[in-house]
Amino acid sequence: MLRAKDWWREAVVYQIYPRSYADASNDGIGDIPGIRSKVPYLKTLGIDAVWLSPHYPSPMLDAGYDVSNYRDVEPIFGKLEDIEGLIKDLHNAGLKMFIDIVPNHTSWEHPWFKEALANPPTNDPSVPAKARYAEGPWAKYHLLRGQNEGKAEPNNWESVFGGPAWHEVKDLAGKPTGWWYLHIFDKSQPDLDWDNQEVRADFRQTLRFWFEKGIDGFRIDVAHGIAKADAYPDCPELVDGDPTNKNPYWDQDALHDVWREWRKVADEFEPQRVFVAEAWVFPAERNARYLRADELHTGFNFPFLKCPWDAEKLRETIDMSMTANAIAQAPTTWVLENHDVWRAATRYAPVIGSAEEIESNARQMNLGRDGDWKAQRDLEIGLSRARANLMTMLALPGSAYIYQGQELGLNEVFEIPAEMRQDPSFITTGGKLVGRDGCRVPIPWDNTTETFGFNSGTPTWLPQPESWKKLTAAEQESDQNSTLSLTRTALKLRKELPALGGLTDDVAALVWDEVAPGVLSFVRPARLGGSAVRCVMNMGKQAQKLSFAGEVLLVSEEHGFDNGLLSPDCAVWLTA
Ligand code: NOJ
Repeated sequence: MLRAKDWWREAVVYQIYPRSYADASNDGIGDIPGIRSKVPYLKTLGIDAVWLSPHYPSPMLDAGYDVSNYRDVEPIFGKLEDIEGLIKDLHNAGLKMFIDIVPNHTSWEHPWFKEALANPPTNDPSVPAKARYAEGPWAKYHLLRGQNEGKAEPNNWESVFGGPAWHEVKDLAGKPTGWWYLHIFDKSQPDLDWDNQEVRADFRQTLRFWFEKGIDGFRIDVAHGIAKADAYPDCPELVDGDPTNKNPYWDQDALHDVWREWRKVADEFEPQRVFVAEAWVFPAERNARYLRADELHTGFNFPFLKCPWDAEKLRETIDMSMTANAIAQAPTTWVLENHDVWRAATRYAPVIGSAEEIESNARQMNLGRDGDWKAQRDLEIGLSRARANLMTMLALPGSAYIYQGQELGLNEVFEIPAEMRQDPSFITTGGKLVGRDGCRVPIPWDNTTETFGFNSGTPTWLPQPESWKKLTAAEQESDQNSTLSLTRTALKLRKELPALGGLTDDVAALVWDEVAPGVLSFVRPARLGGSAVRCVMNMGKQAQKLSFAGEVLLVSEEHGFDNGLLSPDCAVWLTA
């Protein structure tokens, strides 16, 4: 519906987490040949592009977000030829391909960091690290002397995964040196110093390396984190892991220069190459600064993902982000699930017996840290809401992301034995944070093997729950009311109905209706000779009589919209 060069403004992108998609080698961990075998499935799903979470060589201490070589493929996942083959397969199927890039930190197994460790910093307190090591390997990493004669961390910064964000460097004999390196995430993920020109030049070359291989875009990990405030001031107030606070390592102005440099690299290529930013930046106006014309093309809309099941708040969130993005003339990029947050079907599931279900569930977003994961939840309601909100998301103007398994309505898995859990946030906090393993469980494809067709039967790296027997893609294939069928139909209609595309950064691309409290209702105006489309979602507790005329295009549940009555937790698309 848009000019080819603007495809990203309305693209639906499907996120693949390579460890958990499909396992052709039958070692229990997914791989690229496995993904290639699913290209026909991806094509029939009706998406426009795939985003692959990190595929790089990695010790996997943060599931691949700890990269030790940015220009190769992790042997567990395959070889360079495999990813070249995947790019070709996807392009032949008419799909674009994004990969992940992780610029904030490397793995501690990256050659730069190994080189740094082999050149331990001095213990002489009179030598400032920056000056002493300006030309040396440590200059690429944030390195500071500790306080109190080397006995305590340089400042009070905390790691997102819990505990201090500093790790003390040991000398070659294993003795503490009094020097500390920064790791905003795991201690195996030392933060790079983006003031360093070698770091900048090297990453630009990495972008070109993959663009030349035909990659259409990059998802930028922690795009709000690469610059740190000068002089490393203490955090004013530690709000545990909450990126909305004013920590001196988030959303610093200096980082925008780097995104301008990256944009220039993307613009060297034809057809258009694009970026999507993972930036947990609030409010929406700050976030839109990443999307200025000479910076990144798109960025995830996390306020939408974090919004509780509440019509008024959802409308406010949609309005706020569309207004802010319109200033930058950037589309909004809607997202409800990814590999870092609880599955929507669980998040929206009310806690049984809790009056406060909505507020409490809404907090369970950021790295799964707040959730009462032992509480009993009504998953049936949760799934209805997840399906309804998926329809709403796909009716909104802009680009949208679907996380693998969201199209199957998978729930968060909590029954994972502690010894199998791999998320560093679980490990670092000794299990205080349940972490993100529960949304990373291997996909159930069919009932042909004990691992639901994920491989030929070798136990999967995280266990799949028995209850997924009924949720396999094959089971859902033949059920026209399944979440898979709903997703396919919604994606097909989205392509067929011109009203659902178009100028997605224009606030006039959506017009609100006033229906009743608890009901979210909007119209996407008619264009290109097609009729207008209305999307109505009932987020209240009572069924709602709708007085709208119009042909029913799609309903989120089989009997969700009978005789003009929209059931709670259901959505409908109508012509308008
Ligand atoms: C965000 C990624 O999505 C998450 O999975 C990872 O742990 C952190 N960045 C650190 O790279």
